[in-house]
Amino acid sequence: MRHGTRAIICDAAHNSGGDPAGRPYKELPERFFFPLIFGEVNMLNVFDSVTINGLQLANRFVRSATYEALATDEGFVTDALVALYEELARGDIGLIVVGYAYIQPNGKGGPGMLGIWSDDHVDGLARITGAARRHGAKIASQIVHCGRQSFPDLIGETPVAPSAVPTAKLGIMPRELSISEIEEMIENFGKAAARAKAAGFDAVQIHCAHGYLLNQFLARNSNRRTDKYGGDLEGRARALFEAYAQIRKTVGADYPVLIKLNCADFVEDGLQLEESLWVAEKLAKMGIDAIEVSGGVYDTVPDEGRSIQKGVPRKRPEAYFLPYIEKFKKAVEATVIAVGGIRTLETSQSILREGKADLISMCRPFIHEPHLLKRWRSGDVSPAACVSCNRCLAKTPFEGLKCFRVKDERRKEKEERDEQKGETGEK
Ligand SMILES: Cc1cc2nc3c(=O)[nH]c(=O)nc-3n(C[C@H](O)[C@H](O)[C@H](O)COP(=O)(O)O)c2cc1C
Ligand code: SF4
Repeated sequence: MRHGTRAIICDAAHNSGGDPAGRPYKELPERFFFPLIFGEVNMLNVFDSVTINGLQLANRFVRSATYEALATDEGFVTDALVALYEELARGDIGLIVVGYAYIQPNGKGGPGMLGIWSDDHVDGLARITGAARRHGAKIASQIVHCGRQSFPDLIGETPVAPSAVPTAKLGIMPRELSISEIEEMIENFGKAAARAKAAGFDAVQIHCAHGYLLNQFLARNSNRRTDKYGGDLEGRARALFEAYAQIRKTVGADYPVLIKLNCADFVEDGLQLEESLWVAEKLAKMGIDAIEVSGGVYDTVPDEGRSIQKGVPRKRPEAYFLPYIEKFKKAVEATVIAVGGIRTLETSQSILREGKADLISMCRPFIHEPHLLKRWRSGDVSPAACVSCNRCLAKTPFEGLKCFRVKDERRKEKEERDEQKGETGEK
């Protein structure tokens, strides 16, 4: 009976765009709306607020870090960057993670990448946090050293790495870091985090995924060192643990420190799931506040665990890292954030309800629709409009971040219109 009633209510609401009393969805309190779709009132809800080390987020959605290619050559903030984050901040996302920012000049990974390597960057970064604050949004800075996934033309020197091993994809032979350079890099992570805090970011996220330098240290195939920063997993994880400890020292105990970590690299001799779980457990014991679980490096074969998979959900399943992510949720005493191909409110809600992760992170859906969550909350719960074509991935470094499918479609529509005009002789 109850089930049937609920189905009728859902249908009525769906067909009329409002509740049975005729009120449109947007006037309904969220506590009313979501139980209609998902069941009991006391269930965890993706639109419930959540607190991470004292930082209260309005809901459980995260905008996963997204490289914008809109900074100056030295990584300074531009008006275009401020405008992009102002727009996202209007979208009611629980936590916005800004695109990766390089902690020292040779850690840069792409043109127009944000920099956080000098105190001079702080004022510009504060313009981004100011834009977020104007709309009540919470915002985090993601900090990175790209290591061997960089280019001599970009940084003006040979890229550095734990060992002199190139990626198959880029084929660029990196230079092995000396011990003193590793110590300097660890210091620089701490300084970058301090700058993020000074610029008004609500949290900082260490980028230790997708094959960048700290990820390179963890993996056997890229770290062949025989000193204390290599060898067994404990040695290979030392650079990361010391970077985390340095960050914690500079930002203090009550500032949220997050990490994006690969569940696995999905390449031979890359980081393995069991190893990553061990690293995550150690970090949790050291006090990390949240772990965003991703996967894949530049050399990963597209069908076998790439971080940014094409064709979701038509050709690839939604939430493609979920079978791995849930293992972190079971094993690790820290907030776990799921990322990778999440496209529907229903999947988001079930990940949370089934206890597979605590927060839901998306990247491409928010490129296409910065206000996706407002749409879902208004009652239009159709999937994210992003079709995971990955045009943004290919084109962003050259043209700046946007959804290129929208642009391409508009161009196609215009061409079709022009063609029709030509056929009918219109001007
Ligand atoms: C254009 C673009 C830029 C990205 N930049 C970053 C980045 O700066 N840092 C990062 O950790 N991941 C980055 N990613 C990966 C996403 O954060 C995310 O892990 C991945 O796209 C899977 O999530 P999705 O299916 O919701 O897009 C980027 C992805 C895209 C498409
Ligand atoms: S270009 Fe647009 S539709 Fe294609 S993956 Fe990027 S955001 Fe999605």
